[in-house]
Amino acid sequence: MQKTVLIIGSEGQIGSELCDALSVQGFKVIRADIRLQTDDAKLQYQLDATDKDAIESIVEEHRIEVVYLMAAMLSATAERHPQKAWELNMQSLLHVLDLAKEKKIKQVFWPSSIAIFGPDTPKKNTPQETVIHPSTVYGISKRAGEMWCAYYHRVFGVDVRSLRYPGIISYKTAPGGGTTDYAIEIFKSAKSEGQYTSFIEAHTITPMIYMSDAITATIALMQAPSESITVRTSYNLDGLAVSPHKLEEEIKKQLPDFKVDYTTDYRQAIAASWPESINDQRARADWGYTIHTDLQHLVQEMLTHIK
Ligand code: SER
Repeated sequence: MQKTVLIIGSEGQIGSELCDALSVQGFKVIRADIRLQTDDAKLQYQLDATDKDAIESIVEEHRIEVVYLMAAMLSATAERHPQKAWELNMQSLLHVLDLAKEKKIKQVFWPSSIAIFGPDTPKKNTPQETVIHPSTVYGISKRAGEMWCAYYHRVFGVDVRSLRYPGIISYKTAPGGGTTDYAIEIFKSAKSEGQYTSFIEAHTITPMIYMSDAITATIALMQAPSESITVRTSYNLDGLAVSPHKLEEEIKKQLPDFKVDYTTDYRQAIAASWPESINDQRARADWGYTIHTDLQHLVQEMLTHIK
């Protein structure tokens, strides 16, 4: 029988593409997002992710088996609204974990992030287990969430799986309020204005992946047999080492007149507190993580498709 999955945060950068990918794979996808207006034949719902009763009623109505909880307030916005970010990022997770504990759903995906790492974490080849002192509200919420995932797995046997996503670069749905958003804005500006003012310093490197690799990784993790999942906090994932300067160089190969200048703001300190590269040996060994899209291909795709 066709499995029914619920995507909370279905209209966001990752959620929207996850819906498409899971539909193509034959899942019945129910979309839920605070930004949705209509009940389109009950396949989509306007949902506040902190409302447990509302989540539960969708789960019951559709006999949902798997929930992908993609709703979150990202790093830059969360610095401006700490209380709201904590409430959204934590309450939504605890509600979904409770539904799994109560056996109303069978499996949960919840994204963590490179933002859990702080300035005293080793910057290069960051290990799975290391010093983890997040310096942002978003990072604190993601690290706390990881610990909740591990707890619900250990104590209640909940099958919750998670990835520490690098920055994700994509063209279909714009992200909102992230520190790594510059790596998407830069392509828009390159095409429309031939110039970009970066809020991140030229040589600050953070790991980034192309959306298709993030989606492939997410689905591979969720489909892996339970016994091969050895990390129940969240898996390290490496990406491409990207900086504004590297993107500028690569874009210039196609748009030679493109120019970048720099006016950094509070987001620079956030980016600088994150690692440059990640050791993702466990993800490779346990369920076969690989990156298919290199920087050259990524830039080509972005310049071709971004509007
Ligand atoms: N891309 C996210 C952000 O910048 C990190 O997970 O907030």
